[in-house]
Amino acid sequence: MKLAINQDRLNSEIEELAAISDADPPAVTRVVFTPTDLKARAWMQARCEAAGLALRQDAIGNTFARWIGSESAAPVVGTGSHIDAIPNAGKYDGVVGVLGGLEAIRALQKAGFRPRHPIELLVFTSEEPTRFGIGCLGSRLLAGTLSADAAKKLADNDGASIEDVRRKAGMTGHLEEVKLPNGYYKAFVELHIEQGPLLEREQKPLGVVERIAAPASLRVLIEGAGGHAGGVLMPDRRDALCAAAEVILAIEQAARTTGAIDTVATVGICDVFPGAVNSFPATVRLSVDIRDTTLERRDSVMKTIDAVCHTVSVKRQVSIHSELLNADAPADCAPAIVATLTQICARHGFSFLPMTSRAYHDSLFISRIAPVAMLFIPCRKGYSHRPDEYSSPEDIARGALVLAETLATLAA
Ligand code: GLV
Ligand code: MN
Ligand code: MN
Repeated sequence: MKLAINQDRLNSEIEELAAISDADPPAVTRVVFTPTDLKARAWMQARCEAAGLALRQDAIGNTFARWIGSESAAPVVGTGSHIDAIPNAGKYDGVVGVLGGLEAIRALQKAGFRPRHPIELLVFTSEEPTRFGIGCLGSRLLAGTLSADAAKKLADNDGASIEDVRRKAGMTGHLEEVKLPNGYYKAFVELHIEQGPLLEREQKPLGVVERIAAPASLRVLIEGAGGHAGGVLMPDRRDALCAAAEVILAIEQAARTTGAIDTVATVGICDVFPGAVNSFPATVRLSVDIRDTTLERRDSVMKTIDAVCHTVSVKRQVSIHSELLNADAPADCAPAIVATLTQICARHGFSFLPMTSRAYHDSLFISRIAPVAMLFIPCRKGYSHRPDEYSSPEDIARGALVLAETLATLAA
């Protein structure tokens, strides 16, 4: 079977989707269930329908686009990723896996391939944690690692509950019904940009992922006492931002000193209240993201962070409360799918790097219920989650080609 990826169509679809955004180009912002996200979903669904795929949307908005196989009840061969984007992001994160997956299916259709197993493109809801504080909302519910009851307790920063938000967005149905039945998947393969510099540095056009690192995140609330920036003298202050500064630097230090290059910790949000130039801060809210390739090391950093919070709270007489949002185990990719990806790369003479995904992905959660694998393509300088994120049309098309052949092998 000779497959042709339509590189121009794929690239122009990536550009078209990038234009559905709440940020000025080249930045992309598409936060789950905003009007912009809903517009992007409708655009994507129309593309899937045009390819003759049967659509289904579950109660959290995960969208399944199915190419029915000759054995319609056989377990599904899945692919896909997400189209939501963090504030001020780029065009390629997630989108390459969704539009690349669609293009892979269209190439197989055009080549006259007829799958035995259904092949299904899945657009996951809210891979990004922007709105509800927790990433991979759709895939967690699909895998059952987040219960419907726990999901219902989630709310956005404006206090709107997930139940209200999703219903207003037209996702009716019950969250209890989102979890996939056992044995739903034969295999799941996600195409994604690397989001790091290794492929470019090693001059490899493809990365075959063997393992996905373990992410965790916390919300830390620091409460001191605010007051007048002139009237209150330094010895009398319980400044929440100064306490936060100590906590932030200690978190950085905890990640730097594990002895492993794989440990990373990030404070990405620091909300300061009341945020006035002439008032020292009463309250600070931090978001903390900690990741590692081993659970033990990741957890030891979290213990250090707990200890730091305690020490700083005593020293500065502030209260520090930390709320665990998620602490997930790493995942191993399925050796059989990894071998298929490897063989296909070798057959084409594409050199590849066996690698660990340091970013998390929906595949991390799908791995709890199905054999998964991931294929990475390079992104310039490793830039991601920023507007200058870039992958070349050639690299994207190469990834889509290997994905298409992998889907064909798995679905035959
Ligand atoms: C995914 O967006 C991640 O933060 O790894
Ligand atoms: Mn992302
Ligand atoms: Mn992503």
